[in-house]
Amino acid sequence: MRILLTGGAGFIGSACLRHFLDRGDEVVVVDAFEETLYPRAVKDAAVAESRQRGEFSLHEIDVRDRAGLMALAAEHGPFDALVHLAAVAGVRPSVEKASYYYDINVTGTQTVIDVARAHGAADRLILASSSSVYGGNTKTPFAETDDVSRPVSPYAASKLSLEHLARADHHLHGGNVSCLRFFTVYGPGQRPEMAIHKFMRLIDQGESIPMFGDGSSGRDYTYIDDIVAGVVAATDRPEGFKVYNLGGDRVVRLLDLIEAIGATVGKPVAIEQLPMQPGDVTLTMADVTRARAELGYQPKTSIEEGLSKMWAWFQGRKS
Ligand SMILES: NC(=O)c1ccc[n+]([C@@H]2O[C@H](COP(=O)([O-])OP(=O)(O)OC[C@H]3O[C@@H](n4cnc5c(N)ncnc54)[C@H](O)[C@@H]3O)[C@@H](O)[C@H]2O)c1
Repeated sequence: MRILLTGGAGFIGSACLRHFLDRGDEVVVVDAFEETLYPRAVKDAAVAESRQRGEFSLHEIDVRDRAGLMALAAEHGPFDALVHLAAVAGVRPSVEKASYYYDINVTGTQTVIDVARAHGAADRLILASSSSVYGGNTKTPFAETDDVSRPVSPYAASKLSLEHLARADHHLHGGNVSCLRFFTVYGPGQRPEMAIHKFMRLIDQGESIPMFGDGSSGRDYTYIDDIVAGVVAATDRPEGFKVYNLGGDRVVRLLDLIEAIGATVGKPVAIEQLPMQPGDVTLTMADVTRARAELGYQPKTSIEEGLSKMWAWFQGRKS
C-alpha cells in the first residue's frame, strides 16, 4: 500500500511508520518537527531509527501549508491511504496557546482532508483523535455513542473539530474515514513530557515527581504496540465514517501508577503534591467494544509488562 503519513517523526507516528515499513508498505512522511512539547533532536533520533527499518521519503512540510502539501501529493501520489497523526498534542499547553492549537489541529486537518480527497486517499483516511473529547464525562466506560459536547480544553475542542470536519466531508463526498480516539499512549519512544516518561526520568535521577491532585485520578493507559495495531487495522479495514476508541481496557490510578514506576525503576519515590491543572480530567476509561468487533482490536499489554518494556528502552537510550 502507498501511504501518506503525517506526524511520522513523532512518538506514535514513528512507531506506525516502522510497522508499515516492516510489512513492505511504501510510505511518504510529512512532519514539521514542531517543538512546542519537546525538542527536534528527539524526532531526528526517531527518524534515524526508522531509517534502519526501511526506505521512506521524508518531507519537512507544515500541514497548514496547502500549496506545499498539494505539490508533494501531486509528485508522490496517488496514495491508497492517508494516516494523519500530525498535531500539537498535550492538554495543558493548549490552555495558553488555544489559537495555535486551532491552527494546526483544525486548519491543518482540513488541509489534510482536502489532500486526501484530491490525491486518491479519501477511501482510507485515518485521523488521530483523542480520549480528551469526552471532557468531563462521568459515565463509564466511555463509549463512542456518549455525549461529547463538553470539551474542557482547547486541545480537546480541536480534536472534536477534527471529527466534525471529517464527518462533514464524508457526508458530502463519501469515502472511508476512521477517527481514532487514542487513550494515553505510553511505551518506548513516548514523548518526554508525558507522565510515565517524565516520572521514570525523575525517579531515576532521585528527584521528586510532581503529582497533580491527590493521586486518585485514573487513566486508561495504552501500550504503543496496541495503538499501532489499532491504526494498522483501521487502515486495512475501511468502514465508511467511523469513530473508534483505542484504549488499554484497564484504568490505573495515578498513585498506583507512580508506585508501579518506582518498583520498575527500583528506586525510592518522592512525591510533590500540586493542585489539579486546568483542562485536566479526573478519569478516562475506554469502552473498546466497537474496535474489538470491527477492527479485531485487542489490547494485549498489561501496565506491568508495558512499564518493564519501557524501562528497558529508557535504560538503553541513556547508554
Ligand atoms: N500520545 C498520546 O497519548 C495521544 C493521546 C491522544 C491523541 N494523540 C494524538 O496522536 C497524534 C500523535 O501524538 P504523539 O504523542 O505521537 O505526538 P508527537 O508530538 O510525538 O507527534 C506529533 C508530530 O506532529 C508533528 N507536527 C506538529 N505540528 C505539525 C505541523 N503543523 N505540520 C506537520 N507536522 C506537525 C510534530 O513535529 C510531531 O512529530 C497526535 O495527533 C495527538 O494529538 C496522542
